[in-house]
Amino acid sequence: MNTEGTNVWPVRLTTDRLSIREPSERDRPALIELITADRARDYLGGAVGFASRQALELSPLGLTWGRWVIAATSADGVEDHTDDAPADRMLGIVTLSYDREELELTYALLPNCVGFGYAAEACHAVLDWAAENLPDEHVIAVTASRNKRSVALLKRLGFTTRKGLTEFGEQCLLMERPLALD
Ligand SMILES: CC(C)(COP(=O)(O)OP(=O)(O)OC[C@H]1O[C@@H](n2cnc3c(N)ncnc32)[C@H](O)[C@@H]1OP(=O)(O)O)[C@@H](O)C(=O)NCCC(=O)NCCS
Repeated sequence: MNTEGTNVWPVRLTTDRLSIREPSERDRPALIELITADRARDYLGGAVGFASRQALELSPLGLTWGRWVIAATSADGVEDHTDDAPADRMLGIVTLSYDREELELTYALLPNCVGFGYAAEACHAVLDWAAENLPDEHVIAVTASRNKRSVALLKRLGFTTRKGLTEFGEQCLLMERPLALD
């Protein structure tokens, strides 16, 4: 199975408030915070262990197809609870992959960036780009059933439930939508 949807990488997208770009060195502390936070244990299939954390601390960033950082386009345009926040700071991540042998969308925001519509804005941009550039007819997403914000986001993006499944001992929903919406 091809693990890259296009030969071109990085792909950079912009929206009204966001720059969606490959990760860079300056994002490393925020990326480590995102995947090691307690919340990751709740919703991302378990916080990473020591070895994985070491790997992330040492690995080069920005090279993997489909792994984007969601960043602020300007210091002023973005509201969050961070004082003196610099422009282009990382707000979260959005990812396309073929790990399940179908095009799959994942996303996560830093805790202080939840509740401003950033995940929806970034996912719309990535899915619009994918609809224009990838041959796939459907895109899937897997979320814990009890992750209300994630389920609500997927419904707003037009996903419906294909089936339930259990992952990491957690009840999950595998949701899908046509890649191109009419
Ligand atoms: C899942 C997750 C990304 C959802 O984040 P989110 O901010 O709720 O999602 P959206 O980007 O769609 O934002 C919607 C919220 O922003 C609010 N909002 C504020 N300004 C907005 C704007 N300009 N446009 C749209 N929504 C706006 C909406 O009212 C809504 O808030 P509410 O639900 O409290 O009413 C986030 O909870 C998260 O990172 N969770 C942990 C990681 C995770 O669970 N990932 C999924 C694993 S599968």
